[in-house]
Amino acid sequence: MKILVIGSTGRTGKHVLAQAIKRGHEITAFARRPELLTERTGLAGVHQGDAHDLETVCKAVHGQDAVIAAVGGSRIASNLIAAMRETGVRRVVMTSSRSVPATRPRIAVTLAWLFFREAYVDLARAEGMLQVSGLDWSIARATMLNDKQPAGRVHIDFEANATGGAMQLSRADYAMALLDTVEDPTLIGKALGISGPT
Ligand SMILES: NC(=O)c1ccc[n+]([C@@H]2O[C@H](COP(=O)([O-])OP(=O)(O)OC[C@H]3O[C@@H](n4cnc5c(N)ncnc54)[C@H](OP(=O)(O)O)[C@@H]3O)[C@@H](O)[C@H]2O)c1
Repeated sequence: MKILVIGSTGRTGKHVLAQAIKRGHEITAFARRPELLTERTGLAGVHQGDAHDLETVCKAVHGQDAVIAAVGGSRIASNLIAAMRETGVRRVVMTSSRSVPATRPRIAVTLAWLFFREAYVDLARAEGMLQVSGLDWSIARATMLNDKQPAGRVHIDFEANATGGAMQLSRADYAMALLDTVEDPTLIGKALGISGPT
């Protein structure tokens, strides 16, 4: 697939690029700081720009089969939706957080919301926009991310509260899940909760 990756220079995004190239996808990276990608071989292209700028996003989305947003947010979602409608690209997988809909474990969720309320409210807004966009969306709600070695497995469910798995998830495993999701048409219109493997 021809895939545009937003957030490509991030700690998750760099794994998405590497794994996607390995899987044989044609990857274009979207980056505010493309100079961070000079050592990344195998890319089909790089678009320099801010995802808050609609015109740049439109240019980057044009001609792609799918978009993976390895960074979430309502301004990014809003521009992506507009750009995808404009260019006729339909498939999008967007990062969110398990904390957005979660009510359990109660203390952990309460504390997380205390510290990251603004980010979660914005992600909730982004999720809502995507869900009514008419696009072929999937939302990937990650649990707490770390940079540990990948396990090659994740726990996935479709519930507000995790039905299993670990509270910590390596960014490499999360990248794997993002790619598995974009490749799987049965996950269109679904919000996945992604936790670490048990
Ligand atoms: N940390 C957690 O435990 C956790 C849990 C659940 C979900 N998440 C979400 O998972 C996502 C990925 O996390 P991460 O730790 O991999 O993030 P990260 O390392 O901070 O990377 C974020 C990436 O997004 C890019 N970016 C941000 N705003 C942008 C914009 N307006 N236009 C273009 N690029 C932009 C950044 O570019 P620059 O290098 O230019 O800044 C960077 O490449 C985040 O959205 C986070 O909210 C995190």
